[in-house]
Amino acid sequence: MIFTVAIDGPAASGKGTIAKALARELGFRHLDTGSLYRAVALRSLEGEDPVAAARSLDPERLGDPRLREPRVAQEASRIAAIPEVRAALLDFQKGFARRDGGAVLDGRDIGTVVCPEAEAKLFVTATAEARAGRRHAEQVAAGLDSTLEGTLAEVRARDARDAGRDVAPLRPAEDAVLIDTSGLSIEQAVSAALAVVRSRIGR
Ligand code: DC
Repeated sequence: MIFTVAIDGPAASGKGTIAKALARELGFRHLDTGSLYRAVALRSLEGEDPVAAARSLDPERLGDPRLREPRVAQEASRIAAIPEVRAALLDFQKGFARRDGGAVLDGRDIGTVVCPEAEAKLFVTATAEARAGRRHAEQVAAGLDSTLEGTLAEVRARDARDAGRDVAPLRPAEDAVLIDTSGLSIEQAVSAALAVVRSRIGR
């Protein structure tokens, strides 16, 4: 059996949390595709050419805690607009999705570009204020320097860049189910997502 769940959405919409919970619940593999772009971004910040970094990326090594830093997120959003970077990361993502078994991939272009054939597609969104509030709380909890205003500005800048780029911009696939998590708890958002996926699997 091959079954792919494609989850797209803007920064801090809850898509990563939903993706992890679905994978756990259904026994599917999970790929956070943003971490691929972040890994390239980190190497770019260290002075490497981003296209060369993407071409030589080891996708098994995405655990570096520095990948979660805000400066890496901003750089990821920048290098993600380079077509050669996206092309270099595509085969790994497609291969991950279509290995035997179930897979959940979350990102910006999974339902539109990486897995247009996915059996279930979700577009997870929330207001910029709700997303900035969550990201700010995460950063404070992680001991990082963060202000709510600064985080909101970063969220807006990243939204504009991710949705405005020419190649694979952030947008819902035509057949994606929209989930707005602004007023939902994590449990509510996960159960809404699970209901959609279960209806597609038929179990
Ligand atoms: O999901 P994230 O915040 O970790 O993603 C970091 C950046 O990587 C995001 O701002 C845009 C880029 N990205 C992308 O262009 N396509 C994806 N499928 C995933 C992430």
